[in-house]
Order: sequence, then structure tokens, then C-alpha cells
Amino acid sequence: MITATTAHDLRRAVDRWRAHGERVGLVPTMGALHAGHLSLVELARSRADRVVVSVFVNPTQFGPGEDFARYPRDAARDAALLDGAGCDLLFLPAVETVYGPGCTTRVRVDGPSRGFEGEARPGHFEGVATVVAMLFNLARPDLAVFGEKDAQQLAVVRALARDLHLGVEIVAAPTVRDADGLALSSRNAYLTPAERRAAPVLFRALEAARAAIAAGERDSGRVLAQLRAVVAGEPSVSLEYAAVVTADSFQPVDRIAGEIVVPLAARLGSTRLIDNLRLRVE
Ligand code: PAJ
Repeated sequence: MITATTAHDLRRAVDRWRAHGERVGLVPTMGALHAGHLSLVELARSRADRVVVSVFVNPTQFGPGEDFARYPRDAARDAALLDGAGCDLLFLPAVETVYGPGCTTRVRVDGPSRGFEGEARPGHFEGVATVVAMLFNLARPDLAVFGEKDAQQLAVVRALARDLHLGVEIVAAPTVRDADGLALSSRNAYLTPAERRAAPVLFRALEAARAAIAAGERDSGRVLAQLRAVVAGEPSVSLEYAAVVTADSFQPVDRIAGEIVVPLAARLGSTRLIDNLRLRVE
């Protein structure tokens, strides 16, 4: 595995591969890698000849009171995991490499950024869209893999790639979970043992929503009432939002039909977790 820290070194490797007709897949991450990230690498490997993984804790997507400073960072461990997962190139840029001197450009995707994470974390999706556009321009991949775990982010990135004609195919990867259902997340490391034991209630709540829809319920309000009742059984977990939205526009719907997502966010002590359920309903 090659490690590149500069745009020049990244381009040199990618240009060489592309000159040989190889398809390049990009997996953008912020590091602190877990099996969820590695599943994205595996999916990229199955769809492309070469896989580039970026590890970059992007400052512009963190709000003022958020965890940018304490976000877990372990480049040596990440590099070892990526090497073992068959990554061809690790792109590990400094902040100044991505945001050059005098950089004031920002990319804003309106529709799917509205509400939910966009409301709870003002500026978050602008930071995500900006860095993803920059990473696409730096690496010039044929495809890029994003996790369904961050369903609103996936909708924002799909809109970004479409609207700016970026020519990058966006590939979605299913959410990887622990045995008890908790979606893997770098932020799970913040949970106390008691919070970790309580956290799978979020998955059980989403499963209750799935069961209600499978049983024929098509009213979003009634599905969400069942979801909330499950979360209420775990008093240490406070639900911030839960909704039924269309998968692509992320706009709430009253009646369940087509491809929908049930996103939720919850607080466990000082940690904020998000999860979601994705369904196609005929
Ligand atoms: P990060 O949180 O490191 O996640 C990188 C990618 O891994 C994202 O596409 C995310 O959806 C995916 N992912 C995280 N947990 C997952 C899980 N349990 N199962 C499957 N996929 C999972 O998301 C970001 O970084 C950043 O916002 C980024 C896109 C890199 C831009 O800075």
C-alpha cells in the first residue's frame, strides 16, 4: 500500500492507474477505522481495480462545540487495517493540503441537507459537501463508496455528484452492526459501559418500525409512535428525532411508499448517535 500526503503524490499514482485503463474507487473516511469502514473498502475492491482510502478529520464539518479536537485519531492503526483490507493507496493529507492558503470556497447542497442532521449541526453538510467535492477533484475516482449508516449524508453526496456533474458513481454500502444491533461508529468509543449496554435500543426501535411496516402499517405517525415507545423503555437514551423520509430528497412523508428511510438521532449522556432503517415499500 502506498501512503500519499500530498495532492501531487496522490495524482501521480492515480494518473498512472488510469493510464493503464484501471478503474479507481475512493472511500472517504475520517479514520478511527472499524469493520464498517472496512466493508466499504471491500465493496470498492469488488467494483474497482484500485482502491484509494482517504483518512482526513475534516474541520469544516464540525460545529464550534463539537468533538473535532477529541475525535479519535490513530494513523498507524488505520494504515495497518487498510493494508490488510487490500487498500492500494492511503491518502492522509494535512488540513493545509485540502484547504489551501486563502481557500474560501464552500459547497452547499440545499434540499437533502435540510432538517435532521442539517438542523442539529448547522454547517455540517456544507463541510461534508465541500470536502467530498475536493476529495473527488483530488483523486478523480470513477466511483466512491459511502455508508447507508449516514443516510442523510448519502443523499447529500448523491445530489452533489448529480448536480455538479462530477462524473463519479456513488455506491451505497449497507450498515455494519455489532451482534446486538448497534451500528458501528467511531463515536461508540465515547460510550460508558452502561451507555453501551443501553445503546442497542435504537436498533430494536428501528426493527419495531420495520415490523409495523411489514405488518401493513403505512401511516408514518403510527410507525413512529411504535418506535418511540421502544426507545422510551430505556430512560438513559433520549431520542432527538425520528422521522419517515424519502431516501433521495430526505423530506418527511405522511404515507409510507417507495424507497424510504427512517432516520433517528439520540443522546446517551454526552454522546450523540445516529442510525436509520432503509426500506422499499411497494
Ligand atoms: P466517517 O464517519 O469516518 O465515515 C466514513 C464512511 O464510513 C461513511 O461513508 C460512513 O457512512 C461509513 N460508515 C460509518 N459507519 C459505518 C457502518 N457501521 N457501516 C457501514 N458504513 C459505515 O462520514 C464521514 O466519515 C465523513 O463525513 C466523510 C464522508 C469522510 C467526509 O469527511
